[in-house]
Amino acid sequence: MKVAVVGTGYVGLVVGACLAESGNDVMCVDKDEAKVRMLRRGKSPIYEPGIEDLLRRNKSEGRLVFTTDLAKAVRQSTIIFIAVGTPQGEDGSADLQHVMGVARQIAKAMNGYKVIVDKSTVPVGTALKVRDVIRRETTHPFSVVSNPEFLKQGAAVDDFMKPDRVVIGAEDPRAAELMVALHKPFTRTGAPIMVMDCASAELSKYAANAMLATKISFMNEIANVCEVYGADVDRVRQAMGADRRIGPAFLFPGVGYGGSCFPKDVKALMKFSADKKYDFKILKAVEAVNESQKRLLLRKMDGHFSTLKGKTIAVWGLAFKPKTDDMREAPAIPFIKALLEKGATVHVYDPEAMTMAKNFFGTAVTYHKKNYDALKGADGLAVITEWQEFREPDFQRMRKLMKTPVVFDGRNIYQPEQMKELGFVYYSVGR
Ligand SMILES: NC(=O)c1ccc[n+]([C@@H]2O[C@H](COP(=O)([O-])OP(=O)(O)OC[C@H]3O[C@@H](n4cnc5c(N)ncnc54)[C@H](O)[C@@H]3O)[C@@H](O)[C@H]2O)c1
Repeated sequence: MKVAVVGTGYVGLVVGACLAESGNDVMCVDKDEAKVRMLRRGKSPIYEPGIEDLLRRNKSEGRLVFTTDLAKAVRQSTIIFIAVGTPQGEDGSADLQHVMGVARQIAKAMNGYKVIVDKSTVPVGTALKVRDVIRRETTHPFSVVSNPEFLKQGAAVDDFMKPDRVVIGAEDPRAAELMVALHKPFTRTGAPIMVMDCASAELSKYAANAMLATKISFMNEIANVCEVYGADVDRVRQAMGADRRIGPAFLFPGVGYGGSCFPKDVKALMKFSADKKYDFKILKAVEAVNESQKRLLLRKMDGHFSTLKGKTIAVWGLAFKPKTDDMREAPAIPFIKALLEKGATVHVYDPEAMTMAKNFFGTAVTYHKKNYDALKGADGLAVITEWQEFREPDFQRMRKLMKTPVVFDGRNIYQPEQMKELGFVYYSVGR
């Protein structure tokens, strides 16, 4: 099929590359010329495991091209995905200006029947708004489809290639049929393709993300109760997870959720519920717990050090989660800013997010190319992101490098007994 994808960010790039991989002719469009130039050279502007192999192969086989020319991409395609950002607006709602702007541009360029797909995460009712905008600009026939994306950054290619499910909101059978055919190659192992109305499809995405955020905040509260009663959250988590109605995934406490999706999607769901006079009470608590949890390690540090003024703190992990360079809403940002405000000197390391980090901290922190280098002379280490490479470090070397061997483990990647035996003062979450 002939496909266009508008927006080549964490979602659009993966969607475009994976659709090309299954044999479609894909034109990826972005307004960012530097990004398009980089992609034409076969380089990915983002870190995402597996993406560069897909880019190189499909580019060289002529199925994947990159352009800033949206009109050309529209003319050459039947299915056009809108995968631009829907950031948080000032009132908490999803800001639809990019989606609507692209819809208008698509409409103006149409030269025949097109299926226009909302891939971006958009509030209930957006498919109707997109349809109205397009109808005003063109006389050509078209269908608007809602096709929310459930991929996880860090495993995005795998998630798209082997989805748990594909959700297609379509009121028009012709568009639904095309979308089902496009996704068939990815669901051969039996994952369901769910065709439904647009409103339900749009809400599915927010419901899933809000549920995941709720799980995180719930476990963080359980961890906090574990701390006051001397229980071990790992034991509690395993006991809970063995219950098939609950399941073991996503029950890990930590320093709060971040990223470009959960915070804004939780806010947007509350906002568009409130717009219809529905008060989404649980999500208010989910957010409040998350805000408090982002300060958990600071509270532990305040309890340990008489003052943070003049202390040197090493931070391992800056990205909002492992296997991505994305720092949008990362818990590391408020944490490090608070350390600096309290007068600490901060040394940081992340395997992939160092370039991004410079946008947030400038010259206020010291950046290191190796994790151990960040430890030299440190009064304490804070682990904020659970990158695989932090899990089995050389503890003896760490002890030798640090001024005082104190570890604040925001992701519970080490074991309290082992750390004690190794001579560390060790703080973690809920244990
Ligand atoms: N990041 C995720 O893990 C994830 C997962 C599922 C859904 N989503 C949703 O997908 C959408 C995109 O998210 P993202 O993380 O890929 O965003 P992103 O910011 O990484 O990428 C958006 C891209 O769109 C481009 N763009 C913006 N306006 C444009 C225009 N007018 N014409 C052409 N290009 C334009 C930008 O230059 C950028 O490259 C959001 O709605 C998000 O909520 C994201």
